[in-house]
Amino acid sequence: MKGIILAGGSGTRLHPLTLAVSKQLLPVYDTPMVYHPLSVLMLAGIRDVLLISTPHDLPGFQRLLGDGTRYGMNITYAEQAEPNGLAEAFVIGADHVGDDTSALVLGDNLFHGSNFSDLLHECIGGIGPDADGCVLFGYPVRDPENYGVGEADEHGRLISLEEKPAQPRSNRAITGLYFYDDRVCEIAKDLKPSDRGELEITDVNRVYLEQGRARLVDLGRGFAWLDTGTHDALLGAGQYMQVLEHRQGIRVACLEEVALRMGYIDADACYALGAQLAKSAYGKYVMDVATSLGAVPNGGR
Ligand code: G1P
Repeated sequence: MKGIILAGGSGTRLHPLTLAVSKQLLPVYDTPMVYHPLSVLMLAGIRDVLLISTPHDLPGFQRLLGDGTRYGMNITYAEQAEPNGLAEAFVIGADHVGDDTSALVLGDNLFHGSNFSDLLHECIGGIGPDADGCVLFGYPVRDPENYGVGEADEHGRLISLEEKPAQPRSNRAITGLYFYDDRVCEIAKDLKPSDRGELEITDVNRVYLEQGRARLVDLGRGFAWLDTGTHDALLGAGQYMQVLEHRQGIRVACLEEVALRMGYIDADACYALGAQLAKSAYGKYVMDVATSLGAVPNGGR
């Protein structure tokens, strides 16, 4: 399965923060926002990732993440020259996806919950030509009118889907994480722009819905799906991460830790990555995690 992170847009609701810096590079407590969606793909077992951003912002992501080798990943980059919609990711990323299945995650979506990796693996297992064509994740919110909104039947099959409806039929927001079978690029290629001139991901999902091949998995009360769209929401997301760190001593979306726990790098390599950041609390955390999972600092010397 191939991964795509879409980190475009101009972040107008966060001006002036985003005048010079991409929204998806802004801090969420002590990590750049894009660590979150990247860690989700890593937890899903996806190691081949295309990051799409604006021509202006792409160099910042490249400086931050490089080619991904240090995390045992392969990260490549592509430009979205104009904000032509989320579904354009599958036009731009068609060569990257090829004949494979794929996952799209939006660069400003933050997820946290226990056993997330197991849930993701279970969902991916059900995708294929003979099974569900796509898997969407629903999350109950107080303001569904600001999101894609879905409804599922008792078997978890998606039965309705609307983009930012004035009168939502449910409180299930569709989160920015999508799993698709090998047909998604073809579907995206044939899409017509919506009224606002964009290729909408909801229109891609509607094709699967009409084929009866879309599944809606509920992320229940044990999960956090955090918004970062406004200054308050961004601060709140940072505070959520800070509380977890102060109370439990854990960090969410620590790429070095995820890479180690997923077996993409070994403990000594993880320790070395932490050592490069040793002046920060984040770097020390990475070194501690690596040591607790078997790293021998300085090769035991
Ligand atoms: C997009 C999608 C929407 C989804 C949301 C999740 O909206 O169009 O269906 O619920 O992402 O973050 P946007 O954030 O581009 O307004």
